[in-house]
Amino acid sequence: MNQELTDEINNVRGLLEARLLTLDDKRSILRSIELKALYERIKTLPDENKAAYGQAVNELRRHLDQLVGEAEGFAQALAPIDVSAPFAVNSAKDRRPGLLPANYGSEHPIMSEQTKILSIFKGMGFSIVESREIDDDWHMFGALNFPEGHPARDDYDTFMTIQTDPKGKQWIAPAHTSTMQNRILERYKPELDGGQPIAVVIPGRVFRNEDVDARHEHTFYQMEGVYVGENVSIGNLIATLKTFLESYYETEIKVRTQPFYFPFTEPSLEFSMGCPFCNQKGCRVCSHSGWIEMLGCGMIHPNVLQYAGIDHDKYQGFAWGCGIERFIMLKHGIEDIRLFESGRLDFLRQFSLGGGSQ
Ligand code: DAH
Repeated sequence: MNQELTDEINNVRGLLEARLLTLDDKRSILRSIELKALYERIKTLPDENKAAYGQAVNELRRHLDQLVGEAEGFAQALAPIDVSAPFAVNSAKDRRPGLLPANYGSEHPIMSEQTKILSIFKGMGFSIVESREIDDDWHMFGALNFPEGHPARDDYDTFMTIQTDPKGKQWIAPAHTSTMQNRILERYKPELDGGQPIAVVIPGRVFRNEDVDARHEHTFYQMEGVYVGENVSIGNLIATLKTFLESYYETEIKVRTQPFYFPFTEPSLEFSMGCPFCNQKGCRVCSHSGWIEMLGCGMIHPNVLQYAGIDHDKYQGFAWGCGIERFIMLKHGIEDIRLFESGRLDFLRQFSLGGGSQ
């Protein structure tokens, strides 16, 4: 067989080998028109070339058949991998971890209740911004109007790192979500300038070097609220919190405020609700006083507005900070805050789907 005929077959071989790599259905290469054309070509050749040419084409077909077989074997050896699988579903059957039944685990009550709380504020027009778990001295104290060396700093038993921030101060595990106030005011100031009030709630995990007991945890959740606009009064503060409480506890609620002190609000208030469990007649939940302290709040101190570049003659605002666990404990009659982080399944399962609370 002459070189020209050999080349003809070799060209088709190169072409089909290259195409094979791109095909999903590898076997279809054996039905390709180029291969068929080679078989057709046999008939057109002079008799002395037919046998050798036919053999060479058969040889090419066998070669392609072998390549197809190898590719299919390889594909079988590599079972498809589900890269989104939660764990090793790709491993051999006998080595797979057992799946948990759906009724075994559940969302933690802090998270599910926090979602309810946030959605109430969302409905009232508040945006939600998450707090953070490490902060600096300025946001924990300075921007909140705690002067250096002020005794009120000692009210917060803060955990601090050994490392220091660029100003040489230790980093802080936030002891309250108020650390976010300055950031929120700065971030939303352009909207305020554009005529929109600032209305933000800030959930977050906070840390205090507390002695732990049924009412105190070293790690717990808070939610801060910040509202700034024109002609904002303490009446707006009280109405906002009352509306929230009535929505969360699904009953009419009486509220009461008493003077308090926080450096970042003036006036500062302690906010209580009439005990909804005994209709203020006195019970164990309200320590027989008819009232339950819920949170700290007040009108944002002019210095705090000013530190964020907000004109405190034109704008006023209110803020509050509350413990999420406290709301949940009251709602569900939970008597010990330590249960939340205890990992006790009998406690947690009461909140699972269908489990309900007490
Ligand atoms: N940060 C305070 C605390 O954890 C609570 C608080 C009081 C927050 C008054 C506020 C506020 O925003 O205005 O004790």
